[in-house]
Amino acid sequence: MAVKICGTGSYTPSYVMDNNGIAKLVDTSDAWIRERTGVERRHIVSKETTVSMASEAGHRALLRAQITAAEVDLIIVSTISSNVILPCAACEVQKALGAVNATCFDLSAACTGFVLAYNTAAAYLASGVYKTALIIGSESLSNLTDWKDRSTCILFGDGAGAAVLQADSRKMYLPKTHSDGGKGGALSLKSRHDWNLLGTEHPSDGDGYFMQMDGKTIFQFAVRKVPEVIREVLEENGLRQEEITWYLLHQANKRIIDAVARHLGEPIEKFPMNIQEYGNTSSASIPILLDEMAQKGMLNAGDKLVIAGFGAGLTWGASVYEWI
Ligand code: ACO
Repeated sequence: MAVKICGTGSYTPSYVMDNNGIAKLVDTSDAWIRERTGVERRHIVSKETTVSMASEAGHRALLRAQITAAEVDLIIVSTISSNVILPCAACEVQKALGAVNATCFDLSAACTGFVLAYNTAAAYLASGVYKTALIIGSESLSNLTDWKDRSTCILFGDGAGAAVLQADSRKMYLPKTHSDGGKGGALSLKSRHDWNLLGTEHPSDGDGYFMQMDGKTIFQFAVRKVPEVIREVLEENGLRQEEITWYLLHQANKRIIDAVARHLGEPIEKFPMNIQEYGNTSSASIPILLDEMAQKGMLNAGDKLVIAGFGAGLTWGASVYEWI
């Protein structure tokens, strides 16, 4: 059993900050950000939250799939930036959509999160545990960003993307995923709840309560591991690179995507990008891109897609999907 994507949806905030706006906050320039990252602007939450964006993206995906909320029996929200800890974001989405029959939980794996949400839902659907899944990546990274740190604040943005999945009789492609907790210090963020009554003092806005990143290490990790895991997933499924129509990579940095294409010896045209518009939206970047491609009519029946995520953890992975 495989899965089919029945519909996609996305939501991005209407407030847009371009690179010149960032240059008013920190010592940087539009030219530097474009050249080093490919980012030109990013959408930032004002009245939206991670849950509200997830709900709207999910609603749009259900409309496109022509599936009612009551038919959904699994909701997974991938996020590292939810505005709620309890109840989980997925339960809040359930409430907003009226998906009364769904089992709901969140998944936290940063920029690999959407790939892992897809794999998790696919395994449940293929085994017959659930019939209809709504998977969502939603992030308000602007809330986790130190707007005084020019090495990180130039990169990130907010948004949500969603897909409705159902079981399908075709052959299932197996994913390839990895983690290396030993290198987790390269991209970290302490919880504001990282204290205890008898031990440390209650934290204030100090070091570690915004995203901290060793950009070079993450860059080198991505450039090495993403081509490797793409080769692994193709080999696992007996596929050749020539059979792949599109590579949908997590939108972290244009130079990372360029380097992955070069390492694979693939034309850059097979790597659609929207990082210029949204920046790095972590687990939302792949489903937003997927939805934009679907709405633009770029995806045709039989197209084989590789989705690949990488990021904090460290985590990385790739999955194959054939569009129908
Ligand atoms: N504007 C202007 N100058 C800057 C800026 C900035 N925003 N940031 C750094 N610089 C300066 C540095 O101080 C340095 O100056 P120096 O040479 O005088 O010391 C110079 O520019 C080069 O800095 P580097 O850090 O070497 O720049 P680099 O080319 O590595 O680019 C970047 C930095 C864009 C962060 C890059 O390393 C990167 O994209 N890394 C990957 C990050 C990433 O993808 N993270 C997300 C992972 S996904 C997830 O899980 C959320």
